[in-house]
Amino acid sequence: MKITFLGHAAFLIEDKKNIIIDPFITGNPAYPNNFTLPQIDYILVTHGHGDHIGDTVEISEKYGATVISNFEICNYLQSKGVKKIHPMHIGGSKEFDFGKLKMTPALHGSGIIENGKIIYGGNPGGFLISAEKSVYHAGDTGLTKDMELIKGVDVALLPIGGNFVMDVNDAVIATEMIKPKIVIPMHYNTWDVINADEEKFKMLVEKLGIKCVILKPGESLEV
Ligand code: NI
Ligand code: MN
Repeated sequence: MKITFLGHAAFLIEDKKNIIIDPFITGNPAYPNNFTLPQIDYILVTHGHGDHIGDTVEISEKYGATVISNFEICNYLQSKGVKKIHPMHIGGSKEFDFGKLKMTPALHGSGIIENGKIIYGGNPGGFLISAEKSVYHAGDTGLTKDMELIKGVDVALLPIGGNFVMDVNDAVIATEMIKPKIVIPMHYNTWDVINADEEKFKMLVEKLGIKCVILKPGESLEV
């Protein structure tokens, strides 16, 4: 499995199928220059905020990709022209041709802003992908003891930028609860309001005996 960081909270996972999570490309200051996406089979959207829905509609149309998100976001995206949706909800899991997928809880919002109005986007979540390796993308979330229930994670993708999500210290506590083999920080330094010291995060989690891999946008980790 190859995990590529596309800046902010966007990740590309190339395994049996190609999956993109929270595909924020247009307007993402951290998106890697000249990065070309491969064929995309699935788009996973954690919640309704613009920096997560991102280019979902366009990517889904271009590649014929299936969008997996909560029920409300899937129906919203269908109204925007997305043809293939698979609605799920928090706590639900389902077998797909890439492995098992579970939607996990997140402490956050999920409103979709359109023309200055907020459209209800259901509850925010995260995703646990269980294939040959398991990857947990926490979505945007504050620290929550629910994370103790997430077990058997090979790679955890956790927000560390504070303000809207966990800061470095809270993300260290989250890492301690999840006990992944590897943790990759995300959702920081895209804008000044979410500036964080990823090297401090790495130092603190490695004190716990958990490996931290800092990926620059465009860089990949093979697991
Ligand atoms: Ni958000
Ligand atoms: Mn966000």
